[in-house]
Amino acid sequence: MDFTSNVRPADMARINTPELADAFIAEAVEAMRAQVGDGKVLLALSGGVDSSVVAALLIKAIGKQLVCVHVNHGLMRKGESEQVIEVFRNQMDANLTYVDATDRFLDLLAGEADPEAKRHIIGEEFIKVFAEEAAKMDGISFLAQGTIYPDILESEAGVKAHHNVGGLPEDLDFELVEPVKLLFKDEVRVVGRQLGLPASMVDRQPFPGPGLGVRCTGAITRDRLAALREADAIVREEIDAAGIDVWQYFAVVPDMRATGVRDGKRAFEWPCIIRCINTVDVMTATVPELDWALLHKMTDRILAEVPGICRVLYDLTPKPIGTVEFE
Ligand code: XMP
Repeated sequence: MDFTSNVRPADMARINTPELADAFIAEAVEAMRAQVGDGKVLLALSGGVDSSVVAALLIKAIGKQLVCVHVNHGLMRKGESEQVIEVFRNQMDANLTYVDATDRFLDLLAGEADPEAKRHIIGEEFIKVFAEEAAKMDGISFLAQGTIYPDILESEAGVKAHHNVGGLPEDLDFELVEPVKLLFKDEVRVVGRQLGLPASMVDRQPFPGPGLGVRCTGAITRDRLAALREADAIVREEIDAAGIDVWQYFAVVPDMRATGVRDGKRAFEWPCIIRCINTVDVMTATVPELDWALLHKMTDRILAEVPGICRVLYDLTPKPIGTVEFE
């Protein structure tokens, strides 16, 4: 396989077995060692499938010459940053810098209710934090990215700019290392499994760059964000436990209140909306008919366990008209 090419050879076999994954891993390791030599490589490690697999490949190829930076923007799901630290620093012994930038992001976002402005703030601040970390490091000449083949195809078709993680600094003068750029998502997952990454990471559902920020609608407040994170964890836990095939599933806590009654007293708290979709290409999506008992279980748990939520709704809106995300 030619790791410098942006074109997937027509006869390249789909990587769908452990043996094919092993063969790919061996080739990729050799190619990365040849490219990097004794140089240092920087990687923004979000904990998503693509960047995690790239990290695991590079750890295998060059060990501590890889420097991973995980920026916690305060909008991660419950347990996600902790899992990145556990898997990469503790289990794989990676060189990992963890930056808790929660206050920076939430302070900048305070009072901002416009969804596009929120996305901008999060994207720009991410670049700033990452560039600041890069500036503190000496002798880095390579930047690794979890670009996959659909990114290249879409970028060539002009659908979206060729960027991961919401766009990394253009002016950082690095040579790119993109070991999975000719692979499709399902192949990246097979490779990740073979590299020993946990299933919860390899099979992770898509999670937008702006994170919970676009699911805590309107102006984000810390208390509502905390409620969203807990409710979302319950939704994920129950759907995972039910073992059903749902493409994307999460909670939303909108910026409004509803009246309820709790312990005989009036409650005036947030509603929580459960959003589940099935799709092939995310251009259109349908809403699965969840089991009534499952909906009840999630509702009961959210109402009992999440302070500040007094009502639970299930979103029946297909795409179109509704987008997957609320903002
Ligand atoms: P929509 O809401 O556009 O979502 O129907 C389609 C898919 O894209 C994800 N999504 C995002 N991903 N940054 C991302 O990296 C974003 O700003 C963003 N907005 C939506 C969404 O989760 C769904 O999988």
